[in-house]
Amino acid sequence: MALEITARYGKALNPRGEAPPDAPAWIGGIDNPYLHGAFAPVCHETTAADLPVWGELPRDLHGVYVRNGPNNVHPPTNRYHWFDGDGMVHAVWFGDGRARYANRWVRTPGLALEEERGGPIWPGVLGPFDFGLPLGPLKDTANTDLIAFDGRLLALWYESGCLQELDPRTLATVGPFRPDGLPGRISAHSKVDPATGELIWFSYGDRAPYMRYGVLAPDGTVHRTDITLPGPRRPHDLGVTPRFSILHDFPVFFDPETFARTGKRIPLFHRDVPTRFGVIPRHGTDAEVRWFDFAPCYMLHVVACWEEGDTVVMIGCRTADPTLRPDPRDGKIAAMLSGIKLQANLYAWRMDLRTGATSEGDLDDLNAEFPMIHPDRLGLPTRYGYLARIPYEIPATFDGLVKVDLTDGSRTVFDYGPGVFGSEAPFVPREGATDEDDGYLVTFVTDVDRWASEVWVFHAAALQDGPIAKVQLPVRVPNGFHATWMPGVDPA
Ligand SMILES: [Fe+2]
Repeated sequence: MALEITARYGKALNPRGEAPPDAPAWIGGIDNPYLHGAFAPVCHETTAADLPVWGELPRDLHGVYVRNGPNNVHPPTNRYHWFDGDGMVHAVWFGDGRARYANRWVRTPGLALEEERGGPIWPGVLGPFDFGLPLGPLKDTANTDLIAFDGRLLALWYESGCLQELDPRTLATVGPFRPDGLPGRISAHSKVDPATGELIWFSYGDRAPYMRYGVLAPDGTVHRTDITLPGPRRPHDLGVTPRFSILHDFPVFFDPETFARTGKRIPLFHRDVPTRFGVIPRHGTDAEVRWFDFAPCYMLHVVACWEEGDTVVMIGCRTADPTLRPDPRDGKIAAMLSGIKLQANLYAWRMDLRTGATSEGDLDDLNAEFPMIHPDRLGLPTRYGYLARIPYEIPATFDGLVKVDLTDGSRTVFDYGPGVFGSEAPFVPREGATDEDDGYLVTFVTDVDRWASEVWVFHAAALQDGPIAKVQLPVRVPNGFHATWMPGVDPA
């Protein structure tokens, strides 16, 4: 069977005619861009110490860089989508100027059941949806985000899933983390406030209540409230300030009647329905939510959020038109890829809690996503955002690292070079730093022409100068989702 993949992000072979040597053999016969090129899964778990380093690793870079992403174990039973892949975490531990690497699958209950039965069970997000399948119509892969809560490393799923605890020293799956009072499924972008240690969470679903919101304290206390929404929604993130959380209700949702009749969730952009942001006191209830209307749009990720007196400011990566049409340049795979084009630019919304006044507008026009900030700035006025640049022709890949000054939209970009794609790049403060950008940016990069990966470390204050250190990895790291940094963690 001839592969019909045309673009370089999904090309099956490099310029020397080689397929990735560490990918499972079963991808060879499947004409699907999410199984090739930058997306090709790997088929081994690897551990490697004393990795070769180009340049010099800073001595105060001490901790672990961890990144989650989809990496399917079994051949798909139906048309595969990138979002379906089993969660795999790649990590590099830094300390004393040295680096160690490991990757491990997240051993979710779904993956365990498939291993027990000897093959795949769930078709994936492109359907068909069979509610008779064990654990539901979709496999909770825990493939999306990673957060550190109370010393634990937790893997989360974009559809609202069960928290999976991992050992941050080995990446071994400890098992589901389910404190009393916390719903069994919460959103991938629930957030930990570094000042209080609280986990601010939300969840959403197809049946009322369509959203739940709450706070898990480090002592295990859970605050929770149901949130009234007009119907099922797909919020991906929320904003957090010291006093408030900002809930998202975008006019991108599927028709519940069509869903009931066909089992298909077909999201539509309702251009006549406003975007709504609900400002709720951190420990507030549904009755205390103040909803503010804005121009219709969609947003995956919040960059920063803070209070200015009675005004709440939220900056995010806004998609002005989520109804992305297939582009003829993408050929036969256009319809599939258009759904994850991630056409988003920096945008600011302001909500005055005293007067009810609002304002909104662009901060920048660059197509960039997967934002990171200084980890201690969550909820506080923030000057710098660090984002992944996304080329229009190559959806869901990151071809450069961007530093944006959120006060005026000015930016610095480091281009990774042809055929080289990065990951989400957390900011790691330098020891004793006082300036907000005095620290490091850490990212995996993968060269799809060589099927080789490295970790690059940048000075955030001098991004334009390029990496100060490159760590050569023994294996390839495919495209993935979210990353985080856990300070002070050594490998076991
Ligand atoms: Fe996300």
